[in-house]
Amino acid sequence: MTTKNFDIAIIGGGVIGLALARALQKSDASIAIFDAGREIPPASFAAAGMLSPSFELADGNAEVAEALYRFGAYSLSRWSDFAATLEDETGASIDYRTDGTLGVANSTDELEAWREQTDRVASLGGDVAMITGDEARALEPALASTIIGAMLAPKDAQVDPRRLMAALTKSLCAKQITARITTVKKDGHCYHIKASDGEAFNARTVVYAGGAVSGLVAKEIVFPVKGEATAIGLSEGIVRRVIRHRDAYLCPKAGGRMVIGASEMRGRDDLEIDASAIAHLRTNAALIVPESENAKELERWSGLRPGTADGAPILGRNADGCFLALGHYRNGILHTPAATEAMAALILGNTQTPEIAAALRAFSPDRLVTT
Ligand code: GLY
Repeated sequence: MTTKNFDIAIIGGGVIGLALARALQKSDASIAIFDAGREIPPASFAAAGMLSPSFELADGNAEVAEALYRFGAYSLSRWSDFAATLEDETGASIDYRTDGTLGVANSTDELEAWREQTDRVASLGGDVAMITGDEARALEPALASTIIGAMLAPKDAQVDPRRLMAALTKSLCAKQITARITTVKKDGHCYHIKASDGEAFNARTVVYAGGAVSGLVAKEIVFPVKGEATAIGLSEGIVRRVIRHRDAYLCPKAGGRMVIGASEMRGRDDLEIDASAIAHLRTNAALIVPESENAKELERWSGLRPGTADGAPILGRNADGCFLALGHYRNGILHTPAATEAMAALILGNTQTPEIAAALRAFSPDRLVTT
């Protein structure tokens, strides 16, 4: 077998790997993207596509949590341009929508939790507000009469991750190779890359952008957090915004497809779909939007989110000089524009905006990689 040579090898064919390849191909470098294909589908394929930094606050280390919110908010601000350019370039719709998110409550405990979250996000400068149940129903008439209040994030957006992957793929001249990479060895200024089928590649620059079970990064650093989800048929317009609740979220997509997500199980790395998890999502969705109760199921699926100990991504380089764009957990789609900008700045030596420089400091692998 002959060894193929590339300037840049990106290991991971999810949205961040694809978007990074698209950004880097402007530099004329020869680029290969390696993806394990059906063997390990990217988390992006399973994602709902919510672009909602205010709803993804991390617990734990306050500094990391604040950095995560700011990075998400910055990325959200980049999404409109990112979507427009990609759609323009490819002629493909990615179903980018800017109708906002409603976090609804049907108990006083939940209402209090949304209030606390609203205060926390507002203290970070976010545009969120509490509204009453009637105000929520005025925005979304399909909401149940039991909804007593909601947190509204009017500037949140969403996108269809599968359409996004298809559009990114269409935008690429990089070579996409289906192969599971098992080893990357540094040799002077070159990296020798081996795939599970024995194929070999060389690259001058390597980026790890793989998911939860790539095998290249220790499981203590990036681990799977399994999620199950379903899609039902619900005519367009019945629900316009993303609706979130403690136990389920509903995301309306083009063509009357409503995505309902998602379970969350840390440490499971199988893709089996548990019927009771889907039933739980459906029951909770029906409590929020009663019309969803008898809607036909279109599809059910599962995926593996790439989790990290503090819920924040890893952006930087490892001891061998490989670039790392990993561990986006629940936020890979949201982070795509900002993570791409950060990694392209690192790899090409571009000027960094203050937001990107702050993210690269906060999300350095040093905070998780202790050896
Ligand atoms: N981003 C939503 C989820 O991971 O379920």
